Amino acid sequence: TTTRKFEFNIEWKKVTRLCHTKPLLTVNGEYPGPTIAVHEGDNVEVKVTNRVSMNTTIHWHGIRQLRSAWADGPAYITQCPIRGGQSYTYNFTVIDQRGTLLWHAHYGWQRASLYGAFIIYPRMPYPFSVPTQSEVPIIFGEWWNGDVDAVENEMMLYGGGPNSSDAYTINGLPGPLYPCSKKDTFIQTVERGKTYLFRIINAALNDELFFAIANHTLTVVEADAVYTKPFTTRAIMVAPGQTTNVLVTANQVPDSSGMFVMAAKPYVTAVFPFDNSTTAGFLKYKSTRTEKIEAPTLPTNLAFHNLPEMKDTVYATTFSKMLRSLASPEYPCNVPKKIDKRVITTVSLNLQDCPANKTCKALGKRFFASMNNQSFVRPFKSVLESHYKNLTNVEFSYDFPEEPPTAFNYTGVDPLTENMNTEFGTKLLEVPYGTNMEIVLQGTSFLNKENHPIHVHGHNFFVVGSGFGNFDVAKDPAKYNLVDPPERNTVPVPTGGWAAIRLKADNPGVWFIHCHLEEHTSWGLAMVFIVKNGIGQSQSLLPPPKDLPLC
Ligand code: C2O
Repeated sequence: TTTRKFEFNIEWKKVTRLCHTKPLLTVNGEYPGPTIAVHEGDNVEVKVTNRVSMNTTIHWHGIRQLRSAWADGPAYITQCPIRGGQSYTYNFTVIDQRGTLLWHAHYGWQRASLYGAFIIYPRMPYPFSVPTQSEVPIIFGEWWNGDVDAVENEMMLYGGGPNSSDAYTINGLPGPLYPCSKKDTFIQTVERGKTYLFRIINAALNDELFFAIANHTLTVVEADAVYTKPFTTRAIMVAPGQTTNVLVTANQVPDSSGMFVMAAKPYVTAVFPFDNSTTAGFLKYKSTRTEKIEAPTLPTNLAFHNLPEMKDTVYATTFSKMLRSLASPEYPCNVPKKIDKRVITTVSLNLQDCPANKTCKALGKRFFASMNNQSFVRPFKSVLESHYKNLTNVEFSYDFPEEPPTAFNYTGVDPLTENMNTEFGTKLLEVPYGTNMEIVLQGTSFLNKENHPIHVHGHNFFVVGSGFGNFDVAKDPAKYNLVDPPERNTVPVPTGGWAAIRLKADNPGVWFIHCHLEEHTSWGLAMVFIVKNGIGQSQSLLPPPKDLPLC
């Protein structure tokens, strides 16, 4: 195996967007952060040195971390934070994975500026054809004119408040539709007739996004670093934490500007008030004349005809259902056909009375989020370390409820009632090595119907079923797709509905499961599951690295 080494220095850097200049947390002064590109099977070492006074951690989103949970990154789950002046080397091997993923900070809302692409080149050729030198990384993010920390603190303290960013970005650039932003527009030059592989990553904090390119169709070939059966579409939906690879053929006849708009805007935004703004960039066809170096003049009339409208649930759902595993001899679909355990959990956002020990801003109420009424409180010590060392006297217990509370009428005809009985704590779900698990994620609704992109650390899973309304344990499992369900690491639980996922718990360690909308994680929409060691070394967690940060 080849070892690939990277150095990440966390440092402040002044960045200007929308005519606002502010210091951003960056890796090596880059915004977005550097791309990590490795090959399948490589050993990866990233030395992260924290050169600021704030704590930090980095997560390699979607990397399975087989037996190396210590390198996963979520703060207080698998490690204590890297403090100012400290370093920690994340060391892991990329086993049997290939495609586009991302890395991001996993401490508070630092993902706002600490994120980048993580690309794994495959051992075998792609199961689709694309010329070399034609890969285009597209990474979505959000830009705040103000201080993101202040927004996060407000969320945490008061459970509410304005948190919407000032712009969405494509590769760090908001594009021409925002004030004072024309010069910060992403432009990808293409050659007429050539096909490109777009590696699309959503690193935004709080919004699922639609993405489309005017006049061009997108052929989806991969999602969350797993090949899919190819299909063409006019737009994709990509949730925070998700990635989608698409092929784009430059087969149109451009007008005199030579440009076509590419754009992303929210599907259902998680924030109040709704922010329906759009980030735009351009595909620019190379002309035969010599290219000018300076920025081209942007076309004044922007054609967006491929982009769905906000809240187009039908579009979003239809798109999700199109995704299928390749399920070929080279890339079989290993969905567990039989399960050992089914866990049904609500994913909820509740507005409830202000508890005595919390602060609330207005009306004596605030938002909380929960799974099976457990609003996750992160402990002060790393769960993995406590678990590994068998520490007693810890702040958590192994009793995460495996069904929704009886008071919660999730199978009734009156769907998805508001639920006001949130408990606060750190309850974990522990399973033996090798358990074939099904987790049914049941959305509940309150006010605005929310979509929750749920991310599982340390495992990929198969989305075997989904639907609107309440999950029906007597009927729905019979309709599951156990032939070619998509394999992912993040699933959008449909607005006002449910999603059923299956996985084999074959990675010993402690794994975070949470909504990838940062706002909801802050409010407690998270849980932790533990996979015990199996038999022998190959089924056991490795010992902790020597430089693991301690609390
Ligand atoms: Cu991409 Cu726990 O996160």
